[in-house]
Amino acid sequence: MKKLVIPFLFCTLLVSCNTERSARSGDSIDSRVDSVLKLMTVEEKAGQLTLYTSDWDVTGPSIRAGYQEDIKAGKVGAVFNAYGAKYTRQLQEIAVKETRLGIPLLFGYDVIHGHKTIFPIPIGEASSWDLEAIERSARVAAEEASADGLHWTFAPMVDISRDPRWGRVMEGAGEDTYLGSLIGAARVKGFQGNGISEINSVAACVKHFAAYGASQAGRDYHTVDMSDRVLREVYLPPYKAAVDAGAATVMTSFNELDGTPATANKYLMDDILRKEWGFQGFVVTDYTSIMEMLNHGNVADSAEAAAATIKSGVDMDMQAGFFQYELPQLVKDGKVSEAELNTAVRRVLRIKFQMGLFDDPYRYSDEQREKSTIGKPEFKEASRDVARKSIVLLKNNGVLPLSKSVKTIALIGPLGKSRLDMIGAWSAAGKGDSAVSIFDGIRAKVSPSTRVLYAKGCNVNDDSTKYFGEAVSLARQADIVIMSVGEAAWMSGEASSRGILDLPGAQQKLVEEIHKTGKPVVVLLSNGRPLTIPWIDKNIPAVVETWYLGTQAGHAIADVLFGDYNPSGKLPVTFPYSVGQVPIFYSAKNTGRPRDPNNKYSSKYLDIPNDPLYPFGYGLSYTTFEYGEVNLSAGEVSANQNLSVTCRITNSGSLSGTETVQLYIRDMVGSVTRPLKELKGFQQVKLGPGEFKDVVFTLTPEDLSFYRKDMTFGPEAGRFKVFVGPNSRDVKEGEFELTDAPKMEFQVKAMKKDL
Ligand code: NOJ
Repeated sequence: MKKLVIPFLFCTLLVSCNTERSARSGDSIDSRVDSVLKLMTVEEKAGQLTLYTSDWDVTGPSIRAGYQEDIKAGKVGAVFNAYGAKYTRQLQEIAVKETRLGIPLLFGYDVIHGHKTIFPIPIGEASSWDLEAIERSARVAAEEASADGLHWTFAPMVDISRDPRWGRVMEGAGEDTYLGSLIGAARVKGFQGNGISEINSVAACVKHFAAYGASQAGRDYHTVDMSDRVLREVYLPPYKAAVDAGAATVMTSFNELDGTPATANKYLMDDILRKEWGFQGFVVTDYTSIMEMLNHGNVADSAEAAAATIKSGVDMDMQAGFFQYELPQLVKDGKVSEAELNTAVRRVLRIKFQMGLFDDPYRYSDEQREKSTIGKPEFKEASRDVARKSIVLLKNNGVLPLSKSVKTIALIGPLGKSRLDMIGAWSAAGKGDSAVSIFDGIRAKVSPSTRVLYAKGCNVNDDSTKYFGEAVSLARQADIVIMSVGEAAWMSGEASSRGILDLPGAQQKLVEEIHKTGKPVVVLLSNGRPLTIPWIDKNIPAVVETWYLGTQAGHAIADVLFGDYNPSGKLPVTFPYSVGQVPIFYSAKNTGRPRDPNNKYSSKYLDIPNDPLYPFGYGLSYTTFEYGEVNLSAGEVSANQNLSVTCRITNSGSLSGTETVQLYIRDMVGSVTRPLKELKGFQQVKLGPGEFKDVVFTLTPEDLSFYRKDMTFGPEAGRFKVFVGPNSRDVKEGEFELTDAPKMEFQVKAMKKDL
């Protein structure tokens, strides 16, 4: 024991005498990192680069028994899927007291949308377009997670996804690069707060680097192949924005890119992430993704896999164990240099130092703090607030909002009483039974004399119609029918691709049967991806997208249904009319033969429309907003000038409401073709009935920039269109000319706007 404790004390002294400085100075941390590194054997170094799961939670295909033994043997630098002040302290004690050097562990977990107080799934939160609320959500998650022994979250996921078949659409901010970048940065800021040295912060992990959202055919883990131009223009900026916001770590993606799996992709990890973007933190693989390269077929064996990975700039191996097993021998054989190994170890130790773990390895494992922090009432309030803002009103023929004193409400559908589904997939340590169901939310909202009846009608995912009769007779007794349909929470998230995007099971038929009763019907959708619901859109008078809203779901939904909150959400992703349109997104190109109904030889389908069911940016309110003309500060600008774009928005309805005013541009002619529309700004305005506001946007030359033919990033002279509207389809437009520009170049920033 003595032998073990001395070096730890040495480290501690080494560190604590410099605590003050270490918080401020990278250099002093570096020298302390080096002083620890000097003490380490190659095996211990390989251990620091190894992350193993506990057996508490299953987030991947393999669970290794004996992780505690591995900790004791100094073979593990970080553990995930273990939390709780008490348990993390126990594990930390093994690392600190029973290993030779006593280097503390880092505890990670998938805190994706809340830790114990669960917030809306990320695609839901993205529908709020409210960066402050999103940052607050991540902040609350950090406060709870850090009080529960965790140092590190595997979030935010910033993969642009334009294919709703992919189940992980639910985990990101949708299809748009601009919106996705701002949201990614907001989440990092929320998780890391005033910095990772703060006790109530967790280190963020931007994932999945890179382009995971472009898996072919929307099938999870599938191949990704795209031009460098599309990669840089569409997919990379959100990762860059998150890195610029200070994200401490990055996770590789499962997919290959241009023939090389991301996990050993030097172009991504070294050339772009570190050299171009200056990323200073560490990179972790995804779950067993080093091992999976044997399946990809770019390496012959585990030794080659480990060598290729570390040489590409990746520092930590999640769950494959290849670094632990292979690196010592690889170093001995001279296939990986000790300098390469040291570089990775330094990056990992640096984060541990920055988080103060060498000063006090147990600082996050405080049962008192755990008790007083988790589930605070204000966290629930924050969750309800963003949940309401995440709801998108897709259709309303005057049925909504409902009166609280309606006599009889029939709630029908398989999700109406579910609590577990309300918290969605990737719900960390959240418990379904603490969530408010839709039934309970409605019951709590309406007057005591209102009867609220419930019938399941059918299961989520089987074809049985045996409960239809009961549901129909219940509907007949009601003044209003609210239908709660959609996907079960497990149907989106990782490994949950779907080839059909209709309501699963017998739910569509159930909606049709209930509709036949002639009662007014409101359809509430709970789902983790866009669904194809053209019949519902055509026939049902009110349709509400509620995603999975978290712990306070039922209350938030009732707030909107009964008019205590006027819905303001806007879709961050296009809803296709039919799965045959996928991938479908608003920023598509024009093509050489744009759709012409009178010309067979134009770009269209024989059997389905080109247009989506609901466009990107779409969402209604209980009030109406009128958009005035688009006024530009000039008809011509030169490349060193900004342009102001003004549009008057008037609340022409009878209720107060919040509108998200969106600004798009189109560069009419470029050295390479440009999208039909690109989002370049948005502003939220709250207006009372009859009130108006002149919303002013500033377009900078950088907003007009893109990767030109020669891959330099800058604007080109020529004609631009500017659009302002409530969504990407229904816009007012203006036009201007950029008079001179070709020489202008920008250091590529992911996105501007106070990052
Ligand atoms: C695999 C997922 O792709 C990743 O997002 C997650 O963080 C890890 N498993 C750990 O659970």
